[in-house]
Amino acid sequence: MRYASITGWGHYAPSRVVTNDDLAEVMDTSDEWIRSRSGIRERRFAEDGETTATMSVQSGRLALERAGVAPDAVDLILVATSSPDHLTPPVSSQVQEKLGAGPIGAMQITVGCTGFVYALVTAQQFIQNGTADTVLVIGTELISRWLRWDHRSTAVLFGDGSGAVVVEATETPCGVVEHVLGSDGAGAEHIIVPAGGGAQPTTHEALDAGDMTVKMNGREVFKFATRVMGSALGTVLEKAEMTTDDVDLFIPHQANARIIEYAANEYGLSPEKVVMNVDRYGNTSAASVPLALAEAFDDGRAQPGDLLALVAFGAGLTWAAALVQLAPSLAALDAVERSDTAVTALS
Ligand SMILES: CC(C)(COP(=O)(O)OP(=O)(O)OC[C@H]1O[C@@H](n2cnc3c(N)ncnc32)[C@H](O)[C@@H]1OP(=O)(O)O)[C@@H](O)C(=O)NCCC(=O)NCCS
Repeated sequence: MRYASITGWGHYAPSRVVTNDDLAEVMDTSDEWIRSRSGIRERRFAEDGETTATMSVQSGRLALERAGVAPDAVDLILVATSSPDHLTPPVSSQVQEKLGAGPIGAMQITVGCTGFVYALVTAQQFIQNGTADTVLVIGTELISRWLRWDHRSTAVLFGDGSGAVVVEATETPCGVVEHVLGSDGAGAEHIIVPAGGGAQPTTHEALDAGDMTVKMNGREVFKFATRVMGSALGTVLEKAEMTTDDVDLFIPHQANARIIEYAANEYGLSPEKVVMNVDRYGNTSAASVPLALAEAFDDGRAQPGDLLALVAFGAGLTWAAALVQLAPSLAALDAVERSDTAVTALS
């Protein structure tokens, strides 16, 4: 039996920090409004010259280094994003080339904020059926270039960033134990960039109307998110015949602290089991789950043998949940611990 083990992780956050007060200088909003509605204190915006491809390469390279995998040993690259550098070509090919990977399969997966969980489940399928041994899964978003600063209820919520994991074949039972993928196209208009595609081509009028930036019906999305976050978690646990007691870490999509707290309360998950970094990054869409996951590894919160519950929702509308068992021993974590010990010994 083949399993898909997460063996490396990395994240990249642009250095430019944008606080709520910074936003209040360019739009009619306040730190108090943003914090109380969303829990967000600040977010990162990419610098000029940074793109979805360059950020993906940063997090992807780090994940490969941690896993001890050379770029040319990767069999498949999956990049989850809704803000690629171009409508076409897919950004995944730019990432493959910039990373120095071979002429392997590379695919962009566009499933809104849910994209990384879809991509991780896809990676596991390739590994389990024996068609890939090593898959690099990246979630990246450069959403600040798709916002309009006079759409304050949407613009204050998002940020840029990237997270990545390396998934490798192993015979040790681990990886995605169970998953749920869902979509409901009836809610398409609730999170949408209306123009710039085939249905509504680019025109001056579309640009002036802000139809080439993200438009969101916040109240409808909030209702959808609170409902689906809990139900996706419940369904995946039921499929796996597990309960929240079995979950070591809940790593939800970081859209809004209130939505995360609602789901955590519904399932009786104590704060130590819930990973939350939305206060520092805002909603980084498809990057949010891998960014939170990578930080959980870096902080020592994700430990070998842990069961992680990843849950995401977003445009489509879509949702996904995955229960991920970490391998009983992770060389990349041992290496982090060794370097910590070395630093302590030196200081
Ligand atoms: C967007 C969201 C934070 C708005 O919070 P809310 O409590 O529902 O706020 P409302 O929409 O009721 O707006 C309340 C008021 O604040 C105003 N407002 C909106 N954005 C504002 C801002 N940035 N600053 C100050 N006031 C703002 C509105 O104009 C409205 O004023 P009015 O009552 O005078 O019309 C909330 O609906 C939400 O989090 N939705 C989910 C979004 C999400 O998760 N998206 C990602 C999906 S992947």
